[in-house]
Amino acid sequence: MKSRFVWMNGDLVPFEKATVHFLTPSLHYGTGIFEGIRVYATDAGPAVFRLREHAERLVRSAHLLGLRDLPYKAGEIEQAILQVVAANGFGSCYVRPLFFLTGAGWNLTVDRATVELGIAAWEWTAYLGAEAREQGVRANVSSFTRHHPNVALTKAKIAGHYVNSVLAKTESVRLGFEEAIMLDPYGFVAECTGENLFLVRDGRITTPDSATVLEGITRDALLTLARDHGYEVAEGPVSRDQLYGADEVFVCGTAAEVIGLCEIDFRTIGTGRTGPVTRRLQEAYRRVVEGREPRYRHWLTPVPAAVPEESREEVCAIS
Ligand SMILES: Cc1ncc(COP(=O)(O)O)c(C=O)c1O
Repeated sequence: MKSRFVWMNGDLVPFEKATVHFLTPSLHYGTGIFEGIRVYATDAGPAVFRLREHAERLVRSAHLLGLRDLPYKAGEIEQAILQVVAANGFGSCYVRPLFFLTGAGWNLTVDRATVELGIAAWEWTAYLGAEAREQGVRANVSSFTRHHPNVALTKAKIAGHYVNSVLAKTESVRLGFEEAIMLDPYGFVAECTGENLFLVRDGRITTPDSATVLEGITRDALLTLARDHGYEVAEGPVSRDQLYGADEVFVCGTAAEVIGLCEIDFRTIGTGRTGPVTRRLQEAYRRVVEGREPRYRHWLTPVPAAVPEESREEVCAIS
C-alpha cells in the first residue's frame, strides 16, 4: 500500500507535497538527525516497537550534534509518529522521523538555523532479503573503518555520518556480499552498516561494548531476551578472528531484525545456516514484536484508530 501522508512540522501533508527546498543546509552538510522505527501487526492492531526509546534517542542524537532548541519534545514526537502511522492506515510499516536545519547553517555551525521535523512511514518488509532469516547472509570485513568518536560521533544517528555506512555497504554488495562488518579505529569489531553484531561460542553470547557503536534498541532488546532465556551474555572487545571461529554470528537492528551471518570473509560460520541460538532469539524477538509475549508488552505502543478520511483531507487542505 502506498504511503499517502507525511507529517511535516505539525501537519499531515499529502505524500507528494512533503518536499524541501534545494537550499536546505542539512541537504548540503548532512546535518539531519533521524530514527528508524518499526510498527508491527499484532492481534490488538498495529503497535510501535519501543516508541519511547526511539523518540528519546532522536532527541539525544540532536543534543549530541549540538542542537539547542528543538521544536518538539520526545512525548510530542511519539504522538506525531502515532498520528502519521494511523493516517496512512498501515498494519505494519517502517517510520522515519528526521530533524533538519533550514534558514541558516551555511557557516558550518548548527546555530541560528531553524530546526524542522518531518516523519514519513512506508511499508517495508525484509531489509536483508526474503531468504535471510532462514539462510543467513554473507558478509565481509570492510576496508572502511567505523567512526572514531573524535571524528564523527558513534552514538547519534546523524545523516552525514551514514556516508561511512554507504561506502562500506556499497563496496561489500559490489563484491557479492550482503552486509559489511566494520572494525573500530583500534581494529576490533564494531558493528555492521545498520546493525549491531553478536557472536555465540560454546553457548555464551558476546557483543562489542557500546564505546564505538550505536547503542541499538534491538541490541538492548536482545541482551534482555538472551539473559531472560538463560544465556550468559558479555559485552567486550571482539576480534575479527573470534568471528571466524564462532559457532554463530548474528546481527540485529530495527530494519534487519535478527539475521545470522552464514559466512564471513569466505569462512563458513558454524554449519553455514542460521544456528540454534540465533534461531531461538529470532523467534523470541518475533513473538515479542508481534505482541505474543505478555512479559514484554510494555515495549509496544498501540497505534490509535485512524482519523476519518474527511477530517484528514481537511487537515491536508489547511497545511
Ligand atoms: C550503525 C548502526 N548500528 C546499529 C543499528 C541498530 O540500531 P537499532 O536496533 O536501534 O535499529 C543501526 C540502526 O539504527 C545502525 O545504523
